[in-house]
Amino acid sequence: MVVMATVLGTSSMVIAAVTETKRDVEVLHWWTSKGEMKAARVLQDSLEQQGIAWRNFAIAGGGGESAMTVLKSRAVSGNPPTAAQLKGEDLQEWAMLGFLTQLDPVAQKQHWDQLLPPVISQIMKYQGHYVAVPVNIHRVNWLWVNPALLKKAGAELPDSLASFFAAAEKLKQAGIVPIALGSDPWQEVTLFESIALAVLGPEDYRSAFVDLDADLLSSAKMVEVFRQFDAIRPYVDVKTKAMEWSDASAMVVDGEAAMQFMGDWAKGEFTAMGKVPGVDVLCLPAPGTQGFFTYNIDSFAFFKHDATMNPESQAKMAHTILTPEFQRQFNLAKGSIPVRNDVPLTEFDRCAQASAQAFRANAEHHQLVPSLSQGLANSSYVQAAIFDVVTDFFHSKKADPQQAAMRLERAVRSAR
Ligand code: BGC
Repeated sequence: MVVMATVLGTSSMVIAAVTETKRDVEVLHWWTSKGEMKAARVLQDSLEQQGIAWRNFAIAGGGGESAMTVLKSRAVSGNPPTAAQLKGEDLQEWAMLGFLTQLDPVAQKQHWDQLLPPVISQIMKYQGHYVAVPVNIHRVNWLWVNPALLKKAGAELPDSLASFFAAAEKLKQAGIVPIALGSDPWQEVTLFESIALAVLGPEDYRSAFVDLDADLLSSAKMVEVFRQFDAIRPYVDVKTKAMEWSDASAMVVDGEAAMQFMGDWAKGEFTAMGKVPGVDVLCLPAPGTQGFFTYNIDSFAFFKHDATMNPESQAKMAHTILTPEFQRQFNLAKGSIPVRNDVPLTEFDRCAQASAQAFRANAEHHQLVPSLSQGLANSSYVQAAIFDVVTDFFHSKKADPQQAAMRLERAVRSAR
């Protein structure tokens, strides 16, 4: 009897433990700034309200480079988390290696094909099957502006590259740092891609960075992109220490710098600092890119053999992410716009409204462009090759735009 009771006791304990871990999700992400943590909290709360415990696996570092390194080592050692923030072309690479859970059952039940804009559902699919769920739409081609500093310098709000340089010069003359820029390579590429879009326009941007057209990559137009990129350097603050994108956003809010080129996750930061985007900090399309839209889509993928083996919780999390209420709350905190177009935007600020309008118009005219800095445009190999050329150029004392364009073409050719 005693033996039986012990055995039963033990097995029911085991069952309890299994049930408990089954209702657990370990989630890897890189949302560690103030605004990002608020947004991540929305996801955590939504899951916890359904009895799913959240295990936070947050790896600091905007852009997610460190998070991806940690994820690779966990996955390779057979111990991946339940879910990971994975996006763009990375999804194809992870799916091809066989790591990701297929989400077709939940996608069919919730009608993802009907809910999602085709440009987004296509990113979430591998060989026609859903392998990730999208969380939001971020617009990357933004310029964030401290209006008081521009006024102080007598500078106009810029709407072209020429007026941007005129404003930057006035700010500099007035002793104000024109542009705050953090120290990561992806932040430099964020600046580069907005200038490239202004110089090239959406069609040539696509041909260069998505289709990898060799002629365009080494063309006079690309030389001009590098020339304009070079011209911005004197207006960027000199960094003496590593700086996150959110530190640069804080500089704009605190009046230490006038402008920042950054995706609208910066807006989540401004909101978390108690500022009103569109009023205290203005959102202008990056100069010369009015009406265009560079997109970055955050998404979560789920691992087949995650440490806790919990397919039900994975499906629940995927479903929750696409509910209208989650979309509303999360995107209000994150600075992005919902991926579902049936979520009312009445509570969203004017920058989000402008973003939604630009997204719709560009989608209609097939002019949306994927973000290079965010890994939406090409494979990780090509992306790394482009990053090398762009950041070397930005840090070189003798940067030569002509040579940079030729190097870009060569680097892309050898990485494809
Ligand atoms: C992500 C955003 C995030 C940003 C800064 C980007 O790669 O897509 O969600 O806010 O990095 O951390």
